[in-house]
Amino acid sequence: MESIQNDQSALRQATISPAIFYWGTPVVLITTQNPDGTSNIAPMSSAWWLGNRCMLGLGAISQSTVNLIRTKQCVLNLASDNMTSAVNALARTTGSPEILTAEPEEGYKYFKRMNGYEYVPDKFGRAGLTPLNSDLVAPARIAECPAQMEAELIGVYEMMQDAGTKGFIALEVKVLRTHVHEGIRMKGFENRIDPDKWQPMIMSFQELYGLKGKKVTESVLAEISEEEYRGFSNAADVEEI
Ligand SMILES: Cc1cc2nc3c(=O)[nH]c(=O)nc-3n(C[C@H](O)[C@H](O)[C@H](O)COP(=O)(O)O)c2cc1C
Repeated sequence: MESIQNDQSALRQATISPAIFYWGTPVVLITTQNPDGTSNIAPMSSAWWLGNRCMLGLGAISQSTVNLIRTKQCVLNLASDNMTSAVNALARTTGSPEILTAEPEEGYKYFKRMNGYEYVPDKFGRAGLTPLNSDLVAPARIAECPAQMEAELIGVYEMMQDAGTKGFIALEVKVLRTHVHEGIRMKGFENRIDPDKWQPMIMSFQELYGLKGKKVTESVLAEISEEEYRGFSNAADVEEI
């Protein structure tokens, strides 16, 4: 602390208006069941944990959200930092064909169309991932993910009700069963993960990191300029320099 205080330049402040606030959270590959019985996969990272619950922040028009609200089931498959090719293959894809014809007044749907999202019905094939049957829910687990949590939907909260930017939802899910690779278990314990062995992929401002302090690869999502998200957050006082 003392050394920080001595270095005055480290404490110099600025007020800024970020277009996105993705400070760094683990990448979850959420699987849900499509109406035709196949499983959809979507990468997402607005996820945090409390007890056996997880809160998920998702766009209302995402196929994953539509599936989750209809079936009340999902699997939260956690990506490790060596799964970059699968995550990038799934970035800017959707299981919803409607983005192909989205009109300007259709918010996030139109954002996706304008930012190069593709309709991909077979996400497992696209990402080269392997489906595994779940025990308690219908959506498939992803074999390559070191942790897979079968979960059920408990609550739905519509976010941004105060703003014009409707269409973002917080979903509370309850973990029903957890499957892990043997390689991340803590030796000598039945029910513990060894954090020295678990290497989560972290998304920070659209870029993909591990816990090793540097980018693990170039991120396909980050090809979208942060300013494209401005309409979903707050106006900037100052134009981009
Ligand atoms: C690494 C990564 C993290 C993402 N995080 C989120 C997120 O937290 N919430 C969200 O709504 N979309 C997120 N996205 C975008 C979704 O993947 C995107 O909306 C996708 O079209 C959803 O697929 P679906 O329509 O088949 O459900 C993320 C994408 C990537 C690549």
